[in-house]
Amino acid sequence: MSNDGVNAGRRRFLVAATSVVGAAGAVGAATPFVGSWFPSAKAKAAGAPVKVNIAKVEPGQQMVAEWRGQPVFIVRRTEEILANLTKIEGSVADPESAASVQPAYVDKKTRAIKPELLVLVGLCTHLGCSPSFRPEVAPADLGPDWVGGYFCPCHGSRYDMAGRVYKAQPAPLNLPVPPHSYETDDVIVIGVDQEKA
Ligand code: FES
Repeated sequence: MSNDGVNAGRRRFLVAATSVVGAAGAVGAATPFVGSWFPSAKAKAAGAPVKVNIAKVEPGQQMVAEWRGQPVFIVRRTEEILANLTKIEGSVADPESAASVQPAYVDKKTRAIKPELLVLVGLCTHLGCSPSFRPEVAPADLGPDWVGGYFCPCHGSRYDMAGRVYKAQPAPLNLPVPPHSYETDDVIVIGVDQEKA
């Protein structure tokens, strides 16, 4: 695949990430200055948990947050999307994420704390491009069997709507589920485990 594909994937992430710079900045601004021997506010913010308000994410839609310099995909899944996860179970490489990264407190099959809300680190497990969100069913370029998921523009890896990689793709593992928890129904905290929230 050409460099164009790589650049297109990165560009998409950069554009999406811009929208959360304000939120990350707010975390930094709230960190008190306590002395020059401590990590700088900027360094702390880079590893700090990020709070994301998901109230405006409609069913079937995705928003992209940023945590530790990585895109984080948050999708509000519909009943239909969840039903399709079961239908395609035989086509994905690691259906219960036995070898993939996900916290123990998420459901093994839906890969979520609440089935309707999927939270993923948006970096392909092949070489780290940011996969495209492709929720539509059977688009011309992805074929009649496509029931929605993620498509990596760099080398074509396909993932389903739980971030599970299909069999025989360049990517070896499912997209990771980051540590996360709910502060309220509308606020997800990325970087803090549910059991510690
Ligand atoms: S980076 Fe190679 S398929 Fe995604």
